[in-house]
Amino acid sequence: MSEVLIIPLPGNEAFAEALSRHLPAELGHLTATAFPDGETHLAIESDVRGLSVAFVCTLAHPNENTVPLLFAADAARDLGANRVGLIAPYLAYMRQDRRFRPGEAITSRTFAKLLSKGFDWLVTVDPHLHRYRSLSEIYSVPTCIMHGAPLLSSWIKSHVSDPIIIGPDAESEQWASEIARDCRAPFTVLEKERLGDREVRERFRDTIALVNRTPVLVDDIVSTGATMLVAAQALQAYALAKPICLAVHGIFAEDAYPRLTKVFSQIVTSNSVPHLSNAIDIAPMLAESVRALIGKPFPAKP
Ligand code: R5P
Repeated sequence: MSEVLIIPLPGNEAFAEALSRHLPAELGHLTATAFPDGETHLAIESDVRGLSVAFVCTLAHPNENTVPLLFAADAARDLGANRVGLIAPYLAYMRQDRRFRPGEAITSRTFAKLLSKGFDWLVTVDPHLHRYRSLSEIYSVPTCIMHGAPLLSSWIKSHVSDPIIIGPDAESEQWASEIARDCRAPFTVLEKERLGDREVRERFRDTIALVNRTPVLVDDIVSTGATMLVAAQALQAYALAKPICLAVHGIFAEDAYPRLTKVFSQIVTSNSVPHLSNAIDIAPMLAESVRALIGKPFPAKP
């Protein structure tokens, strides 16, 4: 593997430190502060000349993070880095994957164009691939995706006896079925109807036997929490035990987390986004993906 320097954007230091231990790789440093008028002042404090640099930045707050991130990538190149990659444990702007009403920006595409211009490669975890089958449909640079499902299964196997795995919507069937198979547990998937950003309806599409089983609701992302909240409420008519909420990415917008704590016995997420619910460490698996990607020959950047 060529020599790589891991540099965290502010707020990503702990994750970057863990990654650098698992790779292993050197840890670099940058500072990003705001001028009084709100513009960003950014300085890369480590020598990047001749190195392959990997910036670490989870994109749970994409609007505030993207500008410093693009400045960092461009500055690294300007200072002599020979390759500049992005490790984004959570990749934003994946859900606006089509024009739902006339005039809407398809932000997934625009965001992908921006990042593909700034970086030579991208490693991420379970990006929300719904209408896109792969990141290469919108990203023009090499990408590598790590899947959280095996880690979610391991967590269930060591913490829950007799689970039933429940996906809150059709999209979650892919990982709910994989997790159920791995845990040798039954699974079912609910039917979801989205009525607005914060409003969904959930109903069972088949009859399920929950007696003596602990319901574990699994999803790729908890954002406003509406999906998980309404799914847990739909379960109340059937379940004896309070359900567990398990997700790869815990965004918990606004008051999502306190609202969810009322209906779930436990809320568990991976550390793709720093949060007090983090109980699953994705750094070792992510380090493997970075190693695999950095080891590969790269096409020349257009
Ligand atoms: C949707 O397709 C995703 O898999 C999640 O179910 C959804 O994004 C969760 O969003 P929210 O927490 O806002 O309901």
